[in-house]
Amino acid sequence: MPSRFNCNLALRSLVAVLQPFLVLASSNPYANLQAPTSDNATVACKSIQVALGSPKVETRTGPDYNQTINSPRNLFNTEFHPTCIVFPRDSADVKVAMSLIFEFEVEYAVQAGGHSANIGWNAVDNGVLISFQFMDHVAYDPSRDTIIMQPGARWGQSVTELEHYGVAPVGGRVDDVGMGLLLGGGLSFLSPAHGFGADNFVELDVVLVNGTLVTSTATNEYSDLFRALKGGANRFGIITRYEVQAVHTGHADEKTWFGGLITYPESSSEALAKAISHYIENNNDPNAVHVSGVGFLGVDNPGGPAMVGTSYLFYNGTELPQSIFGEFLSIPSVSRNLTALSYRDVIFYVQGEGVNTTGHGLLWGASALIGGENTDDLYLESLKYWKNFSNTFSSEFTISSLAFTPVPLSQILYGRERSGNAIDPPLIGYNAVLFGVIPPAGVLKISDAMEEGRQLLLEQLPASPGFPLYVNECDSKQEVFATYGSYEFLKRTYAKYDPSRFNVKHTRGPLGL
Ligand SMILES: Cc1cc2nc3c(=O)[nH]c(=O)nc-3n(C[C@H](O)[C@H](O)[C@H](O)COP(=O)(O)OP(=O)(O)OC[C@H]3O[C@@H](n4cnc5c(N)ncnc54)[C@H](O)[C@@H]3O)c2cc1C
Ligand SMILES: *[C@@H]1O[C@H](CO)[C@@H](O)[C@H](O)[C@H]1NC(C)=O
Ligand SMILES: *[C@@H]1O[C@H](CO)[C@@H](O)[C@H](O)[C@H]1NC(C)=O
Ligand SMILES: *[C@@H]1O[C@H](CO)[C@@H](O)[C@H](O)[C@H]1NC(C)=O
Ligand SMILES: *[C@@H]1O[C@H](CO)[C@@H](O)[C@H](O)[C@H]1NC(C)=O
Ligand SMILES: *[C@@H]1O[C@H](CO)[C@@H](O)[C@H](O)[C@H]1NC(C)=O
Ligand SMILES: *[C@@H]1O[C@H](CO)[C@@H](O)[C@H](O)[C@H]1NC(C)=O
Ligand SMILES: *[C@@H]1O[C@H](CO)[C@@H](O)[C@H](O)[C@H]1NC(C)=O
Repeated sequence: MPSRFNCNLALRSLVAVLQPFLVLASSNPYANLQAPTSDNATVACKSIQVALGSPKVETRTGPDYNQTINSPRNLFNTEFHPTCIVFPRDSADVKVAMSLIFEFEVEYAVQAGGHSANIGWNAVDNGVLISFQFMDHVAYDPSRDTIIMQPGARWGQSVTELEHYGVAPVGGRVDDVGMGLLLGGGLSFLSPAHGFGADNFVELDVVLVNGTLVTSTATNEYSDLFRALKGGANRFGIITRYEVQAVHTGHADEKTWFGGLITYPESSSEALAKAISHYIENNNDPNAVHVSGVGFLGVDNPGGPAMVGTSYLFYNGTELPQSIFGEFLSIPSVSRNLTALSYRDVIFYVQGEGVNTTGHGLLWGASALIGGENTDDLYLESLKYWKNFSNTFSSEFTISSLAFTPVPLSQILYGRERSGNAIDPPLIGYNAVLFGVIPPAGVLKISDAMEEGRQLLLEQLPASPGFPLYVNECDSKQEVFATYGSYEFLKRTYAKYDPSRFNVKHTRGPLGL
């Protein structure tokens, strides 16, 4: 009798894991042996609900459940219907939820800002979703000069709330992206000077896969876990508190940065590709940063399909130095808007404050390319293959893009000097390459032909051997961890903290462990 079996399990689990809640459990109908149950996920959900109380656990009829599933950042997530969503308020709640997920061997996923483009990495069907939307506090600790963030905070929010102190974390470049960014590394406008976001970890509270809560630092007994979490994505536990180094970025009225956006016509795209290639070889000034690439506007463009080049260029200083940005500045452009900016302005530059970007699915893929004149051909080849994809499928997307973020040597060295990360690139600057496709609003399934075309392009895009792919911008089929400098370390550390391989069996995420 499976239902009776499962109810016994529910009780056994409550006794073993939730001693303090037994009084509550005995008065709860779900703990009754006659209660109807269907599968382990249902039992796990009911057990978590007994332990945490109803408001923190919702099934399909709940208002927060509805909102989480029906207005996600990535429209594809509306296809996933967890048995319940847990909305923890603190680490203790996460500990309870994870213990029961582990006990009942159910599928699960964790969602923070919800921006993952990888289907199922932050969503689950018929399992337990842990959503951090009610754990979003951000605070500055002046005595330690650190920033403490709960896992559900957003980057624009953190910059806004801390502006008063003149500090900011090394986080995302776009307002509503969330803290999950740090676990994949984190590419920030501050990164050339201050490393990947994760390189600034000071202390992390982590709920291990078996529900044990530990605090890990660069020097305590969990230092291996600490390093693995800098690039290990969702594989090494659930982070319930991030303490990171504060960066002194100044107040909103201190326009200490200079830069903005240049847009280019299609005819400039090859020159732009070369500028991107040359920049990463020739420049290692930590005050300089850019993100540049090409975009192909498809179905929703009023004038029909069109290609544009874009460069967001910023310099921590009073101008964009010619010696660094000269090539970008001299290419024929359509528009340029370069002004003095505060760090807060920089963060809200790429995506304006409060812009609603939900309603579309997201699809990504990654490559990595070193630069310099010898590699110009690889950049031109990337452009050619991407254009072919974009021309072929322009009637099936709103935007197709190919974007390049420099990871200069200064950034790589910063990480090495701070106990290292799992990504561990060679000591040569390179570009993280992102191929993105945004289908039209409301489209839940792309055509098989476009998916084949996407996979073909990911094979065609040249990659410099030995350079790491960026997990936060990859396609779920890409073997990203295998490109890390510290892959062997990552595998060892995973085996130590999840000996039964529960995470890789029960939650979707990067391959290779
Ligand atoms: C518009 C846009 C702009 C972006 N800009 C940048 C950028 O500037 N720099 C950059 O580096 N990346 C950027 N990204 C990529 C971004 O890093 C990834 O999408 C990242 O996954 C976002 O984290 P999240 O918390 O928003 O998403 P989520 O999808 O909620 O989380 C991402 C992954 O991390 C896991 N996760 C989240 N929180 C936890 C936790 N506490 N414990 C364990 N696992 C957890 C989730 O399960 C999921 O697998 C951008 C993405 C988008 C869509
Ligand atoms: C979810 O909310 C929407 C409106 O916000 C409503 O139309 C819909 O019926 C709700 N769905 C469920 C399952 O409650
Ligand atoms: C349900 O959980 C029990 C352990 O509590 C486990 O033995 C069993 O395999 C699980 N069932 C499924 C279908 O995963
Ligand atoms: C900007 O540059 C100045 C001078 O080079 C430096 O002191 C400051 O720390 C930099 N700011 C950031 C946020 O890196
Ligand atoms: C130029 O950038 C500034 C700062 O972000 C913005 O306020 C202004 O509207 C922009 N101007 C144009 C013409 O886009
Ligand atoms: C954002 O846009 C989507 C789709 O267009 C809509 O469903 C959603 O309600 C909007 N969200 C907000 C906060 O306006
Ligand atoms: C262009 O794209 C189409 C569709 O993916 C593909 O069939 C074709 O082989 C591509 N051509 C080249 C030269 O890559
Ligand atoms: C949980 O996992 C960790 C890491 O593998 C291990 O050290 C610890 O003993 C485990 N705790 C329990 C209660 O099994």
